[in-house]
Amino acid sequence: MWNTRYVLDSRPIGLATEANFRREEVSLREPGEGEVLVRVHYISVDPAMRGWMNEGTTYVPGVELGAVMRAFAAGEIIDSRHPNWKVGQMVTGLLGVQTYAMINGEYLTEVDINSAPLSWYLGVLGMPGLTAYFGLLDKGNPKPGETVLVSGAAGMVGSLVGQIARIKGCRVAGIAGGDDKCAFLKNELKWDVVINYKSTSDLPAALKEHLPDGINIFFDNVGGNILDAALTNLGRGCRIIICGAISQYNNKTIQGPSNYMKIITARGTLTGIIVLDYFDKAAEALNDLSGWLREGKIIYKEHIIPSIDQFPFALNLLFTGGNIGKLLLRIPIE
Ligand SMILES: NC(=O)c1ccc[n+]([C@@H]2O[C@H](COP(=O)([O-])OP(=O)(O)OC[C@H]3O[C@@H](n4cnc5c(N)ncnc54)[C@H](OP(=O)(O)O)[C@@H]3O)[C@@H](O)[C@H]2O)c1
Repeated sequence: MWNTRYVLDSRPIGLATEANFRREEVSLREPGEGEVLVRVHYISVDPAMRGWMNEGTTYVPGVELGAVMRAFAAGEIIDSRHPNWKVGQMVTGLLGVQTYAMINGEYLTEVDINSAPLSWYLGVLGMPGLTAYFGLLDKGNPKPGETVLVSGAAGMVGSLVGQIARIKGCRVAGIAGGDDKCAFLKNELKWDVVINYKSTSDLPAALKEHLPDGINIFFDNVGGNILDAALTNLGRGCRIIICGAISQYNNKTIQGPSNYMKIITARGTLTGIIVLDYFDKAAEALNDLSGWLREGKIIYKEHIIPSIDQFPFALNLLFTGGNIGKLLLRIPIE
């Protein structure tokens, strides 16, 4: 059996390119003691992967040159020498950008595909779902009637944050790029205010016009100019949650917020979230998220690309705004 895998070959400057990866076909060995062989069905494509391609350690170490590109993925166990795992079980884990993963069984999570499709465990019921859930509820502590502004609003995390905020009785506003994304937020998700930042020349003025009483919670996925614009319109006691800064991930020099003194006037707080800190509380979030999905209170969209060979292209869709919803690669299973 052969494994197709993408290995990090060089570190990108700016957007990653195909040349930063090496596509390899390698033969598979038998699992060693404690190891499990997983046939990968879906690979999650996440903005964090761009950061993992850089040298050095942030909240996790960067991927070593020559190593398989790190990625969350989901699949089926096809061989096991670990006492807790048997053939046929469905799992998720950091399986990498490859069609088969040989992994220490300690690092896998079992998922139930009778309750939800396998791919959902990489999105709404996976790492991004937990990010939205705990980022908003634990860091933001939203109260009914408050105004929640979300950037990157039509993306995986952003669209879920806004929907959870609506469930909690908040007024929800989103900033997204493009008419299709804004129509999705307005017409399908029924958000109160939607702003297309690509066709808005003065974002601070647009925020003032649409949210005249100010923002109570700003959930930021984007950073840069969008963060700066939001800071001009804070309500008193505003909570600003820095979840991501995708506008900056390809930049050598990071643009910091120049309007940060508005936080003083607003008596606001600014906080960061790393989802890894919440993995031990996942059950609580998954219970709520599954319930909301069942009740139709959450609409969940996926953007699936049906080939591992599109990986470099897929990664860049996140930075050009080409995805709507959770971006995944599907590996066809013969
Ligand atoms: N802290 C954590 O633990 C954690 C965990 C997961 C994710 N995150 C962060 O959450 C954010 C969203 O992740 P996701 O997986 O849900 O991705 P996503 O939102 O599904 O996809 C990325 C979106 O970002 C927007 N974008 C890209 N470049 C932009 C720019 N220069 N200016 C404005 N918008 C831009 C694009 O939408 P438009 O077309 O609207 O521009 C793109 O579709 C990322 O920043 C990610 O790093 C953090």
